[in-house]
Amino acid sequence: MPEQPTRTLNDGNKIPLLGLGVWQVPNGRECVDAVRWALELGYRHIDTAQAYGNEESVGQALRASGVPREDIFITTKFFPRRRDPVAEAEQSLRRLGVEQVDLYIIHWPQGGPSWAWAGMERARELGYSTSVGVSNFSVEELDQVTVAGSVVPAVDQVQFSPFEFRRGLLEECERRGVALEAYSPLGTGGHLGHATVREIAERLGRTPAQVLIRWCLERGIPVLPKSTHRERIEENGQVFDFALSEEDLAALDALDRTGGTEAARERKWW
Ligand code: A2P
Repeated sequence: MPEQPTRTLNDGNKIPLLGLGVWQVPNGRECVDAVRWALELGYRHIDTAQAYGNEESVGQALRASGVPREDIFITTKFFPRRRDPVAEAEQSLRRLGVEQVDLYIIHWPQGGPSWAWAGMERARELGYSTSVGVSNFSVEELDQVTVAGSVVPAVDQVQFSPFEFRRGLLEECERRGVALEAYSPLGTGGHLGHATVREIAERLGRTPAQVLIRWCLERGIPVLPKSTHRERIEENGQVFDFALSEEDLAALDALDRTGGTEAARERKWW
Protein backbone atom coordinates (compact mmCIF):
# COMPACT_ATOMS: atom_id res chain seq x y z
CA MET A 1 0.00 0.00 0.00
CA PRO A 2 1.46 3.41 -0.89
CA GLU A 3 1.98 6.03 1.79
CA GLN A 4 -1.44 6.85 3.16
CA PRO A 5 -3.04 10.02 1.77
CA THR A 6 -4.33 12.36 4.44
CA ARG A 7 -6.73 15.24 4.86
CA THR A 8 -5.88 18.26 6.98
CA LEU A 9 -8.50 18.97 9.63
CA ASN A 10 -9.61 22.47 10.71
CA ASP A 11 -7.11 22.39 13.61
CA GLY A 12 -4.16 21.45 11.38
CA ASN A 13 -4.12 17.77 12.41
CA LYS A 14 -3.80 15.30 9.52
CA ILE A 15 -6.13 12.32 9.24
CA PRO A 16 -5.34 9.36 6.94
CA LEU A 17 -8.25 8.98 4.51
CA LEU A 18 -8.49 5.22 4.96
CA GLY A 19 -9.17 3.78 8.41
CA LEU A 20 -10.15 0.39 9.78
CA GLY A 21 -13.44 0.46 11.67
CA VAL A 22 -13.85 -2.08 14.48
CA TRP A 23 -17.54 -1.66 15.34
CA GLN A 24 -19.08 -4.97 16.44
CA VAL A 25 -15.72 -6.67 16.71
CA PRO A 26 -15.58 -8.23 20.18
CA ASN A 27 -12.67 -7.51 22.47
CA GLY A 28 -10.16 -10.34 22.12
CA ARG A 29 -8.33 -12.29 19.45
CA GLU A 30 -10.55 -11.30 16.53
CA CYS A 31 -10.06 -7.60 17.19
CA VAL A 32 -6.33 -7.88 17.89
CA ASP A 33 -5.82 -9.79 14.64
CA ALA A 34 -7.87 -7.38 12.53
CA VAL A 35 -6.02 -4.32 13.79
CA ARG A 36 -2.61 -5.99 13.57
CA TRP A 37 -3.27 -7.16 9.99
CA ALA A 38 -4.48 -3.72 8.99
CA LEU A 39 -1.29 -2.13 10.35
CA GLU A 40 0.86 -4.79 8.65
CA LEU A 41 -0.95 -4.11 5.39
CA GLY A 42 -0.24 -0.40 5.60
CA TYR A 43 -3.34 1.09 7.24
CA ARG A 44 -2.39 3.94 9.57
CA HIS A 45 -5.79 4.81 11.03
CA ILE A 46 -7.92 2.79 13.45
CA ASP A 47 -11.41 3.84 14.55
CA THR A 48 -12.73 2.46 17.85
CA ALA A 49 -15.13 3.66 20.57
CA GLN A 50 -15.79 3.29 24.27
CA ALA A 51 -19.13 1.70 23.38
CA TYR A 52 -17.44 -1.01 21.28
CA GLY A 53 -15.74 -2.45 24.36
CA ASN A 54 -12.61 -3.35 22.36
CA GLU A 55 -10.11 -0.59 23.16
CA GLU A 56 -7.85 -3.03 25.06
CA SER A 57 -7.54 -5.20 21.97
CA VAL A 58 -6.84 -2.20 19.77
CA GLY A 59 -4.08 -1.19 22.18
CA GLN A 60 -2.64 -4.69 22.23
CA ALA A 61 -2.53 -4.76 18.44
CA LEU A 62 -0.85 -1.34 18.26
CA ARG A 63 1.97 -2.59 20.46
CA ALA A 64 2.22 -5.96 18.68
CA SER A 65 2.43 -4.30 15.26
CA GLY A 66 5.76 -2.63 15.95
CA VAL A 67 4.55 0.43 14.01
CA PRO A 68 5.62 3.61 15.85
CA ARG A 69 2.77 5.21 17.78
CA GLU A 70 3.27 8.54 16.03
CA ASP A 71 2.65 6.92 12.66
CA ILE A 72 -0.84 5.71 13.64
CA PHE A 73 -3.99 7.82 13.85
CA ILE A 74 -6.32 6.55 16.60
CA THR A 75 -9.91 7.65 17.06
CA THR A 76 -12.07 6.80 20.00
CA LYS A 77 -15.56 8.01 20.90
CA PHE A 78 -17.11 9.31 24.08
CA PHE A 79 -19.99 7.09 25.20
CA PRO A 80 -22.69 9.71 25.84
CA ARG A 81 -24.63 7.65 28.36
CA ARG A 82 -21.80 8.56 30.71
CA ARG A 83 -21.44 12.01 32.22
CA ASP A 84 -17.86 13.14 31.93
CA PRO A 85 -15.86 13.13 28.69
CA VAL A 86 -12.61 13.87 30.58
CA ALA A 87 -12.94 10.94 33.01
CA GLU A 88 -13.98 8.62 30.19
CA ALA A 89 -11.03 9.75 28.05
CA GLU A 90 -8.68 8.85 30.89
CA GLN A 91 -10.16 5.36 30.94
CA SER A 92 -9.82 5.06 27.16
CA LEU A 93 -6.15 6.05 27.28
CA ARG A 94 -5.53 3.47 29.98
CA ARG A 95 -7.30 0.74 27.99
CA LEU A 96 -5.53 1.68 24.75
CA GLY A 97 -2.19 2.04 26.52
CA VAL A 98 -1.41 5.38 24.83
CA GLU A 99 -0.78 8.87 26.17
CA GLN A 100 -3.21 10.51 23.81
CA VAL A 101 -5.52 9.71 20.96
CA ASP A 102 -5.56 11.63 17.71
CA LEU A 103 -9.30 12.19 17.61
CA TYR A 104 -11.97 11.99 20.32
CA ILE A 105 -15.59 12.39 19.23
CA ILE A 106 -19.03 12.40 20.87
CA HIS A 107 -20.53 9.13 19.66
CA TRP A 108 -24.09 10.45 19.25
CA PRO A 109 -26.08 13.45 20.48
CA GLN A 110 -27.73 11.71 23.40
CA GLY A 111 -29.37 14.16 25.81
CA GLY A 112 -28.83 17.00 23.32
CA PRO A 113 -25.91 17.96 21.11
CA SER A 114 -24.03 20.46 23.24
CA TRP A 115 -23.84 19.39 26.92
CA ALA A 116 -20.72 17.24 26.51
CA TRP A 117 -18.76 19.67 24.35
CA ALA A 118 -17.12 21.62 27.17
CA GLY A 119 -15.76 18.31 28.49
CA MET A 120 -14.51 17.38 25.04
CA GLU A 121 -12.69 20.71 24.75
CA ARG A 122 -11.25 20.14 28.20
CA ALA A 123 -9.99 16.68 27.18
CA ARG A 124 -8.24 18.36 24.26
CA GLU A 125 -6.71 21.05 26.48
CA LEU A 126 -5.39 18.35 28.80
CA GLY A 127 -3.67 16.73 25.82
CA TYR A 128 -5.81 13.59 25.88
CA SER A 129 -6.67 14.10 22.21
CA THR A 130 -5.18 16.18 19.42
CA SER A 131 -8.56 16.79 17.78
CA VAL A 132 -12.16 16.67 18.96
CA GLY A 133 -15.32 16.15 16.99
CA VAL A 134 -18.75 14.57 16.83
CA SER A 135 -20.59 11.66 15.24
CA ASN A 136 -24.17 11.20 14.11
CA PHE A 137 -24.84 14.97 14.28
CA SER A 138 -27.18 16.72 11.82
CA VAL A 139 -26.42 20.23 10.53
CA GLU A 140 -28.67 21.73 13.18
CA GLU A 141 -26.93 19.78 15.94
CA LEU A 142 -23.51 20.79 14.62
CA ASP A 143 -24.56 24.43 14.80
CA GLN A 144 -25.70 24.05 18.38
CA VAL A 145 -22.27 22.72 19.34
CA THR A 146 -20.52 25.52 17.51
CA VAL A 147 -22.60 28.19 19.22
CA ALA A 148 -22.00 26.63 22.65
CA GLY A 149 -18.27 26.01 22.29
CA SER A 150 -15.02 27.74 21.47
CA VAL A 151 -13.69 24.98 19.20
CA VAL A 152 -15.48 23.93 15.99
CA PRO A 153 -15.71 20.12 15.75
CA ALA A 154 -12.96 18.78 13.49
CA VAL A 155 -15.16 16.00 12.12
CA ASP A 156 -18.70 14.68 11.95
CA GLN A 157 -18.59 10.92 11.49
CA VAL A 158 -21.79 9.63 9.90
CA GLN A 159 -23.24 6.71 7.98
CA PHE A 160 -22.29 7.61 4.42
CA SER A 161 -22.24 5.82 1.07
CA PRO A 162 -23.79 6.31 -2.37
CA PHE A 163 -27.02 4.97 -0.85
CA GLU A 164 -26.72 7.36 2.11
CA PHE A 165 -25.31 10.30 0.17
CA ARG A 166 -26.23 13.07 2.62
CA ARG A 167 -25.43 15.80 0.19
CA GLY A 168 -27.00 18.52 2.36
CA LEU A 169 -25.00 17.44 5.40
CA LEU A 170 -21.80 17.09 3.36
CA GLU A 171 -22.13 20.56 1.84
CA GLU A 172 -22.88 22.22 5.18
CA CYS A 173 -19.97 20.38 6.82
CA GLU A 174 -17.63 21.63 4.09
CA ARG A 175 -18.95 25.17 4.51
CA ARG A 176 -18.24 25.04 8.26
CA GLY A 177 -14.79 23.49 7.87
CA VAL A 178 -15.94 20.21 9.42
CA ALA A 179 -14.63 17.02 7.78
CA LEU A 180 -17.39 14.51 7.21
CA GLU A 181 -16.15 10.95 7.88
CA ALA A 182 -17.91 7.90 6.44
CA TYR A 183 -18.84 4.92 8.58
CA SER A 184 -20.61 1.84 7.16
CA PRO A 185 -19.36 2.73 3.66
CA LEU A 186 -20.33 -0.76 2.50
CA GLY A 187 -23.79 -0.52 4.09
CA THR A 188 -22.53 -3.08 6.65
CA GLY A 189 -22.09 -5.34 3.61
CA GLY A 190 -25.59 -4.75 2.24
CA HIS A 191 -24.55 -2.49 -0.64
CA LEU A 192 -21.99 -4.87 -2.11
CA GLY A 193 -24.50 -6.83 -4.18
CA HIS A 194 -26.22 -3.86 -5.84
CA ALA A 195 -26.30 -4.18 -9.63
CA THR A 196 -24.88 -0.70 -10.34
CA VAL A 197 -21.99 -1.17 -7.93
CA ARG A 198 -21.24 -4.62 -9.34
CA GLU A 199 -21.40 -3.45 -12.93
CA ILE A 200 -18.88 -0.67 -12.29
CA ALA A 201 -16.63 -3.02 -10.33
CA GLU A 202 -16.65 -5.68 -13.04
CA ARG A 203 -15.94 -3.17 -15.79
CA LEU A 204 -12.97 -1.73 -13.87
CA GLY A 205 -11.65 -5.10 -12.76
CA ARG A 206 -12.12 -4.12 -9.11
CA THR A 207 -14.43 -5.35 -6.35
CA PRO A 208 -17.72 -3.78 -5.18
CA ALA A 209 -16.09 -2.89 -1.83
CA GLN A 210 -13.25 -1.08 -3.59
CA VAL A 211 -15.72 0.90 -5.72
CA LEU A 212 -17.72 2.02 -2.67
CA ILE A 213 -14.57 3.00 -0.74
CA ARG A 214 -13.16 4.81 -3.77
CA TRP A 215 -16.41 6.80 -4.12
CA CYS A 216 -15.67 8.36 -0.71
CA LEU A 217 -11.98 8.91 -1.48
CA GLU A 218 -12.82 10.77 -4.70
CA ARG A 219 -14.43 13.41 -2.47
CA GLY A 220 -11.60 13.51 0.07
CA ILE A 221 -13.83 11.88 2.67
CA PRO A 222 -12.11 9.78 5.36
CA VAL A 223 -13.67 6.31 5.09
CA LEU A 224 -13.84 3.50 7.65
CA PRO A 225 -14.62 0.08 6.18
CA LYS A 226 -14.89 -2.68 8.77
CA SER A 227 -13.66 -6.23 8.28
CA THR A 228 -12.20 -8.96 10.44
CA HIS A 229 -10.88 -10.95 7.46
CA ARG A 230 -7.29 -10.43 6.40
CA GLU A 231 -7.95 -10.77 2.68
CA ARG A 232 -10.83 -8.28 2.84
CA ILE A 233 -8.81 -5.80 4.92
CA GLU A 234 -6.17 -6.05 2.21
CA GLU A 235 -8.72 -5.69 -0.61
CA ASN A 236 -10.27 -2.65 1.05
CA GLY A 237 -6.84 -1.06 1.28
CA GLN A 238 -6.11 -1.42 -2.44
CA VAL A 239 -7.99 1.69 -3.43
CA PHE A 240 -5.28 4.19 -4.30
CA ASP A 241 -4.36 2.86 -7.75
CA PHE A 242 -7.55 3.56 -9.67
CA ALA A 243 -10.12 6.31 -10.11
CA LEU A 244 -13.84 6.53 -10.87
CA SER A 245 -14.90 8.48 -13.95
CA GLU A 246 -17.38 11.36 -13.75
CA GLU A 247 -20.01 9.05 -15.29
CA ASP A 248 -19.45 6.31 -12.73
CA LEU A 249 -19.48 8.82 -9.86
CA ALA A 250 -22.77 10.22 -11.13
CA ALA A 251 -24.29 6.74 -11.48
CA LEU A 252 -23.31 6.00 -7.86
CA ASP A 253 -24.54 9.40 -6.63
CA ALA A 254 -27.95 8.56 -8.13
CA LEU A 255 -28.31 5.62 -5.74
CA ASP A 256 -28.95 8.02 -2.83
CA ARG A 257 -32.00 7.10 -0.78
CA THR A 258 -31.84 9.99 1.69
CA GLY A 259 -33.06 12.72 -0.65
CA GLY A 260 -29.84 14.66 -0.08
CA THR A 261 -30.64 15.09 3.59
CA GLU A 262 -28.95 17.31 6.19
CA ALA A 263 -29.72 14.62 8.78
CA ALA A 264 -27.14 12.16 10.07
CA ARG A 265 -29.54 9.28 10.65
CA GLU A 266 -32.90 8.18 9.32
CA ARG A 267 -33.49 6.04 12.40
CA LYS A 268 -31.98 6.90 15.75
CA TRP A 269 -31.11 4.39 18.44
CA TRP A 270 -30.91 7.00 21.20
P1 A2P B 1 -16.34 -9.20 7.76
O1 A2P B 1 -16.02 -8.29 8.91
O2 A2P B 1 -16.86 -10.54 8.19
O3 A2P B 1 -15.21 -9.29 6.78
P2 A2P B 1 -19.22 -1.58 6.71
O4 A2P B 1 -17.80 -1.22 6.57
O5 A2P B 1 -20.14 -0.87 5.77
O6 A2P B 1 -19.72 -1.54 8.12
O7 A2P B 1 -19.35 -3.13 6.24
C1 A2P B 1 -18.80 -4.16 7.02
C2 A2P B 1 -19.39 -5.48 6.60
O8 A2P B 1 -18.97 -5.79 5.27
C3 A2P B 1 -18.91 -6.61 7.46
O9 A2P B 1 -19.96 -7.53 7.58
C4 A2P B 1 -17.74 -7.20 6.69
O10 A2P B 1 -17.60 -8.57 6.95
C5 A2P B 1 -18.16 -6.97 5.26
N1 A2P B 1 -17.01 -6.69 4.38
C6 A2P B 1 -16.00 -5.82 4.61
N2 A2P B 1 -15.16 -5.78 3.56
C7 A2P B 1 -15.63 -6.65 2.64
C8 A2P B 1 -15.20 -7.04 1.35
N3 A2P B 1 -14.10 -6.54 0.82
N4 A2P B 1 -15.96 -7.97 0.69
C9 A2P B 1 -17.07 -8.48 1.24
N5 A2P B 1 -17.54 -8.14 2.45
C10 A2P B 1 -16.83 -7.22 3.15
